[in-house]
Amino acid sequence: MPDESQLIGLVYMSTERIHFDIDKILDLIEVSRRRNAEDHITGLLCHHAGQFIQFLEGKAKDVDALMERICRDQRHTTPYVVYRKPILDRAFPDWSMALRLFDDMTPEQQKHCRNILAVSLQENASASRYRSDLDALLASFTYAIK
Ligand SMILES: Cc1cc2nc3c(=O)[nH]c(=O)nc-3n(C[C@H](O)[C@H](O)[C@H](O)COP(=O)(O)O)c2cc1C
Repeated sequence: MPDESQLIGLVYMSTERIHFDIDKILDLIEVSRRRNAEDHITGLLCHHAGQFIQFLEGKAKDVDALMERICRDQRHTTPYVVYRKPILDRAFPDWSMALRLFDDMTPEQQKHCRNILAVSLQENASASRYRSDLDALLASFTYAIK
């Protein structure tokens, strides 16, 4: 039996179907922060050139329930889940949903973001080809946002 109270981390990517200008992104973040706080979900949302990368962490049952809602959301394409794995500690314990827009990233973070999205947009791209950029991006935010 999978342990539904196990803390997990999940990363996915998706592409917007409607244009998310800054107002729409801020609306999305407001709803996300309210709902995530209720469910003890924390994480980070990155947005660049119509692409989303989202890191989610929380109890397996809560993250999976949120992912069902996110997958049903017609405002973006079906999320491509890069990984869903047990974690010991949260990377973003104080953030019900942190937001990082491309323009606010450091040049190093922008480079990782570009590499991830350039590879992931290619058909049949294997996650191993951008995993090191993804890990480096997550690590850089973990230190910067804590
Ligand atoms: C890129 C993206 C990220 C999202 N992230 C979250 C999130 O972290 N938490 C959340 O509650 N909803 C998030 N949503 C919104 C959900 O898809 C959904 O609209 C919202 O949770 C309300 O769900 P409900 O209408 O079924 O109650 C996100 C949507 C998109 C497009």
